[in-house]
Amino acid sequence: MTYSRITGTGGYLPEKVLSNQDLARMVDTSDEWIRERTGILKRHIAGPGEATCDLAEHAARAAMEMAGRKASDIDLIIVATTTADRIFPSTACLLQQRLGIHGCAAFDVQAVCTGFVYALGVADRFVRTGGARCALVVGAETISRIIDWTDRSTCVLFGDGAGAVVLEASEEPGILSTHLHADGRFETLLHVPKGISTHYDDVMAGKAYLQMKGNEVFKVAVNTLGRIVDETLEYNDIDKAQIDWLIPHQANIRIIQATARKLKMPMDRVVVTVEEHGNTSAASIPLALDVAVRDGRVRPGDLLMMEAFGGGFTWGSALLYY
Ligand code: COA
Repeated sequence: MTYSRITGTGGYLPEKVLSNQDLARMVDTSDEWIRERTGILKRHIAGPGEATCDLAEHAARAAMEMAGRKASDIDLIIVATTTADRIFPSTACLLQQRLGIHGCAAFDVQAVCTGFVYALGVADRFVRTGGARCALVVGAETISRIIDWTDRSTCVLFGDGAGAVVLEASEEPGILSTHLHADGRFETLLHVPKGISTHYDDVMAGKAYLQMKGNEVFKVAVNTLGRIVDETLEYNDIDKAQIDWLIPHQANIRIIQATARKLKMPMDRVVVTVEEHGNTSAASIPLALDVAVRDGRVRPGDLLMMEAFGGGFTWGSALLYY
């Protein structure tokens, strides 16, 4: 049986750091409030000339280098992003060109903070069914571009970044399963209420911002993530005690802690980057994975649970041997 296995990871954060103290000078908030409610201390923000594809390129090159793969080896590119460089071509096509790869399928996936898990699920199906042998799967965002920097209820939460993996065909187990879900009934709890087809002029003028009913999102996220980890364990007939590392979407430390409690996992088995990165949307899981691989926590053969929740609502999980 053919599996898909992660053979390289990469991450990239823009140079500019925005601390809680910086934010307290911009809106009516405090370092204490942000730390207590979210766990976030700082986040990175893309520079004026820096676009999603720039971040994606750094992360992709690092992942390819770790995997020992060159451009001609890659036969599928999927970029998960909510903040594409252009209306079209897709960021995946722009990235393909940057990397000097020609001819393979390249497309974007849009599932907001669940984007990377969606992209991984799609790439896994390509690889397992013989449609690709060496895929580049990227989560990249310049989410700062759709933040209203006068709205304290949202601007303290998000940051920019990119993470990437190389996913290759293997006879050894890698990804065991991915579980992808959505429910559009919740669209207005977390959304950018404007888009190209409805408010073209506002979008072009940069007046299309993320809006969120944080409290309601919080409750649904905690319950939904609890359900998806159960679904994933049951599907694989695996006990939660077998999981080596939880690699959650990094939205809020309290949401992460709730899922860890549900899995009875101590926090030292949970990869947490939210303090340093904030919520980087589709980039958060591959960034967290890359941090934990490079600092030696995640090792070959470890069993990883990834889970994410985001606008749509969308949610998903992946269970895999690294
Ligand atoms: N600084 C200071 N006060 C703030 C604030 C900020 N940055 N943002 C909101 N507040 C205030 C509110 O105005 C409110 O004041 P009031 O009681 O006078 O009306 C008070 O803090 C409590 O607001 P509330 O929204 O109930 O706080 P909360 O405990 O739910 O925390 C979030 C807010 C956003 C941190 C929390 O709801 C959350 O993390 N939600 C999930 C968001 C998320 O993860 N989204 C992405 C999913 S992928």
